[in-house]
Amino acid sequence: MRILSGIQPTGVLHIGNYFGMMRQAIALQEEGETFYFIADLHALTSVRDPKTLRANSHRVALDFLACGLDPERAALFRQSDVPEVTELAWILSTAAPMGLLERAHSYKDKLARGLAPTVGLFNYPVLMAADILIYNSDVVPVGKDQKQHIEITRDLAAKINETYGDVFKLPESRIQAATEVVPGVDGQKMSKSYANTIEIFGDEKETRKRVMSIVTDSTPVEAPKDPSKSTIVQLYSLVASKDEIANMRERFQKGGIGYGDFKKQLFEKLWEYFAPMRKRRDEVLRDESYIDQVLARGAKRANEAADQVMKRVRTAVGL
Ligand code: ADP
Ligand code: TRP
Repeated sequence: MRILSGIQPTGVLHIGNYFGMMRQAIALQEEGETFYFIADLHALTSVRDPKTLRANSHRVALDFLACGLDPERAALFRQSDVPEVTELAWILSTAAPMGLLERAHSYKDKLARGLAPTVGLFNYPVLMAADILIYNSDVVPVGKDQKQHIEITRDLAAKINETYGDVFKLPESRIQAATEVVPGVDGQKMSKSYANTIEIFGDEKETRKRVMSIVTDSTPVEAPKDPSKSTIVQLYSLVASKDEIANMRERFQKGGIGYGDFKKQLFEKLWEYFAPMRKRRDEVLRDESYIDQVLARGAKRANEAADQVMKRVRTAVGL
């Protein structure tokens, strides 16, 4: 089984990225052949500063390794290190109906957030389909917001197969139900673009500050509180044991404890949860050339896999 996913280097990774996508991607290393990449070509649709883009890409690689990506198992590489993916994106675009792309939520959301309506942004799902199809992927672990993109990928693959015969395998998305959408400190979906994140590797003071800034309602300290709608409980549930979660829910319902105390408890658990990864991150940082070596090895493996599929594609379409 081949497993593939990508993450854009558009900013600093947060716990929504971790629980929505990275944790699952890392666990899948045990189940098949894994390919994970830093989607720097995609990031060009929003990051306009070359230094920032390069630094972000490096940092995503570092954080992924710190979180447990094992480069002996998974190929970790930069999207732009496999240039054939843009060739495949072009071929797919010749079969992509305008209407299919016009219906993409993520395009509409990005325009609503003020991104420039460029052809690249519109074409984003086609490049993403190329990313997935060029490695013959079976499974794509992503957060729920990416589901439609995987469906578009399947539609495009099926269109090519209809016209040219069996060229592509149809991939499936893998979405972790429990962490479909991790809320940010304001209760909305946690996202780099909404300034509501808790970073995976923020420093202690900043992380505590972010947790303490979680928006709550104005229920007084003495009163019982509803755990079912609480961002604190939702985030705590990602990092605590079953018993600990049950205990927090009970104490919510009992009343007599303020949100501030629950936030402190959440911070402690969160900080403890990521401690081994912080340690690993420090180790990775000790060898300056390590990340570049990992990325170079990953790129080699990815190019080998992509070459095979591209040979088949070119023959099929007549190039
Ligand atoms: P962001 O919205 O912060 O820019 P990305 O779009 O780069 O995040 O997402 C990278 C991966 O992390 C995707 O698979 C996405 O589905 C997942 N992801 C991002 N934010 C969340 C969240 N709040 N909850 C669950 N998964 C998320
Ligand atoms: N669009 C994805 C995101 O914003 C990143 C991405 C690009 C991706 N290409 C991919 C994810 C291929 C999975 C497979 O998070």
